[in-house]
Amino acid sequence: MRVLSGIQPSGSLHLGNFFGMMKKMIDYQEHEDLFCFIANYHAMTSLADGKSLATGTLEAAANFLALGLDPEKSTFWVQSDIPEVQELTWILSNFTPMGLLERCHSYKDKVAQGVKPNHGLFAYPVLMAADILLFQSDKVPVGKDQKQHLEVARDIAIKYNNVYGDVFTVPEPEIDEDVATVPGLDGRKMSKSYGNTIDLFLDEKALRKQVMRIVTDPTPVEEPKNPKTCNVFQIYRLFLDQQGVEELTQRYLTPGLRYGDVKQELFETTRDFFAPYTERRKEFLSDPGGLRKTLATGAEKARYIANKTLRKVRKKGGLIY
Ligand code: ADP
Ligand code: TRP
Repeated sequence: MRVLSGIQPSGSLHLGNFFGMMKKMIDYQEHEDLFCFIANYHAMTSLADGKSLATGTLEAAANFLALGLDPEKSTFWVQSDIPEVQELTWILSNFTPMGLLERCHSYKDKVAQGVKPNHGLFAYPVLMAADILLFQSDKVPVGKDQKQHLEVARDIAIKYNNVYGDVFTVPEPEIDEDVATVPGLDGRKMSKSYGNTIDLFLDEKALRKQVMRIVTDPTPVEEPKNPKTCNVFQIYRLFLDQQGVEELTQRYLTPGLRYGDVKQELFETTRDFFAPYTERRKEFLSDPGGLRKTLATGAEKARYIANKTLRKVRKKGGLIY
């Protein structure tokens, strides 16, 4: 089964990115045909600074590789290294009703936040559909926020297939409800745009500062606490197995628990968990030539599949005459 997902190279990574997407992706490489790419074209909808985009792209590659993505076991590339995706985007645009895009929450939210609407932002889901359909992906693991974009991709695939026959695999989203939305420091979705993140690859001091900022309720120490509504618990549980979660739940239900102590534990757990990855990331970043070579090899592998699909689509659409 082909599993595909992409991540934008925009800035630092947080626990939401890791548990919501990256970890699941990396686990897939063991048993599935994993396709994973850095969505630098998508990042252009929010970044108009070429230097930062280029640096961010190499950093994103180092992040994935440091966290365990193995380019031998998977296909790993940078979106813009396969410009064929743009051709497919145009072709798919002709199977994309305006209303479908107008209903997209992520577009509407961005506009509501004051982002100036442009065509790139509006057409973002079509490019995403092209990413998915070009590689005949069966499954696309994403966070809950991307669910609607997946529906758009499915709709477009079905519309196209209705006209030209079964050209595209209709992809299934995979949203792990357990970690569907990792909460941030304030209980809202952890997101760069809310400034409520716990970031990966921080130094100790900065990491501790973020963890200590998690918002807790004013329940007195001598009273039992509610794990379900506690932001510290909801983040801490991501690092624990079932037994660990049960033990922590019991501690919450027993009077005497101090939020400060649990935060300290969470800080230490996060620090220790990511320490080896932080080291590896440094090594990757110290060799940008090596990173570029890995990405070029990945692009070559991905391009072979992309061209197989595109040849069919061009033929069907009368672009080969
Ligand atoms: P941000 O909201 O910080 O800008 P992105 O939109 O760049 O994050 O997200 C990149 C990937 O990480 C996506 O697949 C997204 O679904 C996932 N993701 C981001 N934040 C979370 C979260 N809080 N919980 C679960 N998954 C998340
Ligand atoms: N839009 C996704 C995000 O911001 C990134 C992305 C681009 C993607 N193309 C994709 C995810 C294709 C899955 C499949 O998180």
